[in-house]
Amino acid sequence: MAILGQKKKTYDTTGLKVPVSLGVIMDGNGRWAKKRLLPRSAGHRAGAENLKELCTNCGNYGVKYLTVYAFSTENWSRPDDEVHQLMELFVEFWERYDPELEKEGIRVRFTGDIDSLPDNIKEVCRRGEERSKNRTKMQLIVAFNYGGRREIENACRRIAMDVKEGKIAPEDITEQMISDNMYMPDVPDPELIIRPSGELRLSNFLLWESAYSELWTSECLWPDFGYDELTQAFRDFAGRDRRFGGLSKNKES
Ligand code: FPP
Repeated sequence: MAILGQKKKTYDTTGLKVPVSLGVIMDGNGRWAKKRLLPRSAGHRAGAENLKELCTNCGNYGVKYLTVYAFSTENWSRPDDEVHQLMELFVEFWERYDPELEKEGIRVRFTGDIDSLPDNIKEVCRRGEERSKNRTKMQLIVAFNYGGRREIENACRRIAMDVKEGKIAPEDITEQMISDNMYMPDVPDPELIIRPSGELRLSNFLLWESAYSELWTSECLWPDFGYDELTQAFRDFAGRDRRFGGLSKNKES
């Protein structure tokens, strides 16, 4: 439905820098719902709707890899009914929105401790990846039952096995080898991580991969995070001086 006065989305990148790889922590669903005297589940539902909008906007801006934090390894500690509602929403989401993601050319992949999830969720992940595998405009990587520390732990275990089997010596272990043993070694590290709702922490999201990510936040709660905020994030990102531990290329500083 067209909303009167809504600004036209142009995806004009003048003055912006669009990251090839972007991470988004979808935070603030609960507060969004509370402000409207709604149950938290309504906030998660609005958040899921907004994920579809983010995919469209990112795809049209030219982002190639969008990694979103949908459920962490710590989120199991939430009340049972909230966990249950999030799982149900997850199943419903891919069934309902896959045709739209298909129209947008979006490939879906899941990252995290997927093997430990209930069978029906594993099946949703498997089907979602299979049916979207030939889409090329953008990859949506959904972090589900994901924890950055667990990902690093998993990589350590795999490398330790190679040592145990005599395939490599401990002194052969390199940073690259650790990167290669992360869940998604082919996905570039995120250049920018957006966390709406004003929180200034990573909360166990992409700990290894975010070593040199730029961080961006705003007070906007996730379900309200739209085109304008994304555009502003890309505008601010264009002004960041990314030094990667070296010296500034900007002669004035
Ligand atoms: C954090 O907000 C958000 C989550 C723990 C869940 C994120 C899930 C979605 C956006 C929807 C489900 C996604 C898919 C892929 C179907 P919070 O609840 O901690 O908010 P609060 O900090 O305001 O309480």
